[in-house]
Amino acid sequence: MKNIRIQGGRPLDGAVSIQGSKNAALPIMAAAVLHKGETVLHNCPKIADVLFMEKILARLGAKVCWKGSSLRLDCSSLKNTRIPDEYACQMRCSIILLGALLGRFGKGDIAPPGGCVIGKRPVDLHLSMLKALGARIEEEGGVLRAHTEGLCGRAFVFPKQSVGATEHAMISAVLAKGVTHLKNCAREPEIIWLARFLNGMGASVEGAGTDEILIRGVDALHDSAFQTPPDRIVTGTYLCAAAITRGKIIIENPPIAELPAFLGVYGKMGGQYDMVGGKLIADGRKAYGAVSLVETEVFPGFSTDLQSPVMAVLSLAHGKSHIRENIFEDRFRVAESLVHMGAHIRINGQDAYIDGTKELRGCRVRAQELRGGAALILAGLAAKGQTCVENFQLVERGYEHIQEDIRGLGGVAFAEEE
Ligand code: UD1
Repeated sequence: MKNIRIQGGRPLDGAVSIQGSKNAALPIMAAAVLHKGETVLHNCPKIADVLFMEKILARLGAKVCWKGSSLRLDCSSLKNTRIPDEYACQMRCSIILLGALLGRFGKGDIAPPGGCVIGKRPVDLHLSMLKALGARIEEEGGVLRAHTEGLCGRAFVFPKQSVGATEHAMISAVLAKGVTHLKNCAREPEIIWLARFLNGMGASVEGAGTDEILIRGVDALHDSAFQTPPDRIVTGTYLCAAAITRGKIIIENPPIAELPAFLGVYGKMGGQYDMVGGKLIADGRKAYGAVSLVETEVFPGFSTDLQSPVMAVLSLAHGKSHIRENIFEDRFRVAESLVHMGAHIRINGQDAYIDGTKELRGCRVRAQELRGGAALILAGLAAKGQTCVENFQLVERGYEHIQEDIRGLGGVAFAEEE
């Protein structure tokens, strides 16, 4: 187990550069499987989830190598179509490899995928989409076995918007015969990045970022390189760090257009921000306002991934706030630890009621999932005394160098193995 120790009480101050986006990099890595050749992903974050995906690709037979922060994936001799169980169950996103394998080889096997413990997180939309494109899927001894004589483009309406299922459908349709017309698609920025990547390798994808996406199947793809964009969730987390410590930070490369709803909430809390020469100056010195309702929604609504960091900030606000979680049913796990640190939070189903307190106390708490763990680190930065967040490795699934970044901003944070 890994822990991180944080000494609270210092307003953050300084400049920070944002790592490449986890949620953009993962589906792009999966999509690389479609091509019998080379894909280079620049500015790829070296985080646990990316390293998991890298291991899966290597086990499938890809040649994988890093040069600095550039990840080179050579899938020309990739031949295995069974996604190793030990990785599949640790990372939910691995399901989207199934469509890539079906597209390239006409078959693929996977154990039901895992991921962060934030609800039931079924994969029914993924499977019904694959079936609609012509895959047959059987479950055998807990393993999903998919095969096809060839995927065929067709119209498919998602019964519910899903980021992963939309990305999965786009990847599956790239080499399918004919035209795939997807409706009720998710519109998250990572879907646009995936479409740009796919088009850059020779695919034909139109409409990403709207709720209808059209993919014309192509026969072949080519080598390509792609620049991973900065991570919008890490950006939001660091803005929360500025707010909770009443600090002032500069984000060197902010994906500002990808954070509309979050910046709205940040403003309501009293946070101020300004873009100067492409950098975001975020002033959290007055970010102690309570917010009557923060509601998580699909993009461009407020991201569920920033709900826990915002909960940490609101626990020190002047007044009462209310958060409603609409995306995942079990995403308030962090509340118990925040309460342990002195926060006043009451959970009722998908609603969290927060009565701002004057002070949080540093103590020993445990991360239960990625974003909740990040929220505890933020709480620790503002708390009186020292906080030890156990299970720091869960935070490292998504944050490449959070402890170094905190130190660079004048905070005190040290990871330790136990
Ligand atoms: C992605 C992000 C995650 C983010 C989430 C919502 C990645 C790697 N992860 O996760 O950080 O929190 O989007 O923005 O990009 N659902 C079903 N059936 C399915 C698939 C999903 O019912 O087959 C449900 C989920 O349980 C959830 C909702 O749909 O309630 C949205 O999930 P989805 O958008 O698919 O999230 P992920 O792609 O898993």
